[in-house]
Amino acid sequence: MKISINNIEFSYNGTPVLKNIDCKINKGDFITIVGPNGSGKSTLIKCINGILKPRKGTVLISDKDIKEHPKNDLAKCMAYVPQNNHKQTPVSVFDTVLLGRKPYINWKPSASDIKITADIIEQLKIETISMKDINKLSGGQQQTVFIARALAQETDILLLDEPTANLDIKHTIEIMDILKKLCDKGLTVIIALHDINLATRYASRIIMLKEGEIFAHGGKEIINEDNLENLYDIKVQLIESNNNLHIIPIGSLHN
Ligand SMILES: Nc1ncnc2c1ncn2[C@@H]1O[C@H](COP(=O)(O)OP(=O)(O)OP(=O)(O)O)[C@@H](O)[C@H]1O
Ligand SMILES: [Mg+2]
Repeated sequence: MKISINNIEFSYNGTPVLKNIDCKINKGDFITIVGPNGSGKSTLIKCINGILKPRKGTVLISDKDIKEHPKNDLAKCMAYVPQNNHKQTPVSVFDTVLLGRKPYINWKPSASDIKITADIIEQLKIETISMKDINKLSGGQQQTVFIARALAQETDILLLDEPTANLDIKHTIEIMDILKKLCDKGLTVIIALHDINLATRYASRIIMLKEGEIFAHGGKEIINEDNLENLYDIKVQLIESNNNLHIIPIGSLHN
C-alpha cells in the first residue's frame, strides 16, 4: 500500500512542529525515522495515522486522503504502536492482543481471531505471561505485547514509535527480524528509532528529521559523518564491518 505525504505542516497551539514534509513510501518499504529529541518523529507518525490533523497538506493511502477512509477500514490497513503506553485497563495479555482483531470482530471473536491471537503470542514468545494483567509486566514485556496487538491487526502498514526502547539486545533483534521478514512479504514498516545503528541496519530508507523538517532522506548513503554531525551536533566516527555501518558517538563538536 502506497503512502503519499504531501507537503504537510503541523503546529501545536500555533507553534510549528512539522514543516514541508513531503515524501512517498512504497509497499514493502522499511522506513526508519531518526533525529534528535523533539525533532517531530512522533508527531509525524501521528499525522500519518490520522491521530493528528496537519494544518496544511495531505496524507494519502492508496491515493485516497486518510480523512476519507472510514475509521474501521483505516484500522484494517494501518496499525500503530505508540511511544508511551500509559497505565492500561487491567486486562490480560491475551485479551490485549485480541484487541488487535477489533476491526474484524462483529459481536464476538471468531475461531480465526482467537487462532491469530494465539499464533502471534507464540511467535513473540509471550505465552508464559499470556494470562497476566498487562499492568503487572515489565516495560519490555509490555512493549512486546503492544507490538503483538499491532501485528494481530494484520494491516498492510505498521507504524511504530520507539518500539525497542525498553527491550534488551536479544529481544530488540528478534522483534526487528520479525518486522523485516514481514516487510519482505509486503508489509510497509515505518519506525521512529533513537538507535541510529539499528535504524541503519534494517532500513530500506532512512528519514532524518531536524527541527520538524526532512534534513536528509535516502538509503544508507545518507549515513555519513557530515550528516550525523549536523543532525545531532555531536562528533561521530563510522566504522564498516561485515557490511554493516557502526556509528560511534565520540563527543561534543564544540570541545
Ligand atoms: N501534545 C503536545 N503539545 C504541545 N507540544 C507538543 C506536544 N507533543 C509534542 N510537542 C512538541 O512538539 C515537538 C516535537 O515533538 P515530538 O514528540 O514529535 O518529537 P520526537 O522527535 O518524537 O521526540 P523524542 O525523540 O523525544 O520522542 C517538541 O518540541 C515537543 O515539545
Ligand atoms: Mg517521540
